Amino acid sequence: MTSSKDKLDISFRNARLEDGAGIWRVVKDSGVLDLNSAYMYLLLAKDFGDTCVVAEHEGRITGFVTGYRPPNRPESIFLWQVGVDASMRGQGLGKRLLAAFLQSPGAEGAALLETTISPSNEASKALFGAIARELGAEIRVTEGFTESHFPEGGHEAEELYLIGPYTAARANQLKV
Ligand SMILES: CC(C)(COP(=O)(O)OP(=O)(O)OC[C@H]1O[C@@H](n2cnc3c(N)ncnc32)[C@H](O)[C@@H]1OP(=O)(O)O)[C@@H](O)C(=O)NCCC(=O)NCCS
Repeated sequence: MTSSKDKLDISFRNARLEDGAGIWRVVKDSGVLDLNSAYMYLLLAKDFGDTCVVAEHEGRITGFVTGYRPPNRPESIFLWQVGVDASMRGQGLGKRLLAAFLQSPGAEGAALLETTISPSNEASKALFGAIARELGAEIRVTEGFTESHFPEGGHEAEELYLIGPYTAARANQLKV
């Protein structure tokens, strides 16, 4: 994906090492997403940048998507975390981040979007429902990670959402 900028002065581009700290900060501030180690976000930004996207406003990361291509499911692209700064939610940024993610170089050849969502996360369900509609794709929801898969208890289940099949043409029509 080439970098694109809009009239709100938000640019969308694939991640690089320098973005790892900003992604970590958006996750931390969200209060909803699982906060992983800063090292992990540095690694993702450095080595999986072609399937990670950031939204940048005045030099600050205000939203991101992390993901990867599952090695044993070449038709799939897995979206791990998506987050938008609380001050910028509800303005279409989440949808544009997903569009940029599906148009990333690392998404080439994929026809199935996979993600997991906790049953209580209404914003996330609405976001992925909207993208499925715009892709003209079906959503199948199956068991992903149950509460018992997580150590120590207290983590809500994560249902697996399979969105597709979708065509590259439809993905490339999504508005970034
Ligand atoms: C989920 C999240 C990324 C959505 O980002 P956003 O920029 O607010 O989303 P958008 O403005 O692009 O909205 C996308 C769609 O979801 C709907 N939506 C967004 N937030 C919603 C909410 N809280 N409740 C219901 N619907 C919601 C919008 O109406 C829109 O639907 P439409 O296209 O049919 O009108 C954001 O709420 C967030 O960062 N949440 C905390 C982190 C998180 O839960 N991430 C997901 C789990 S990995």
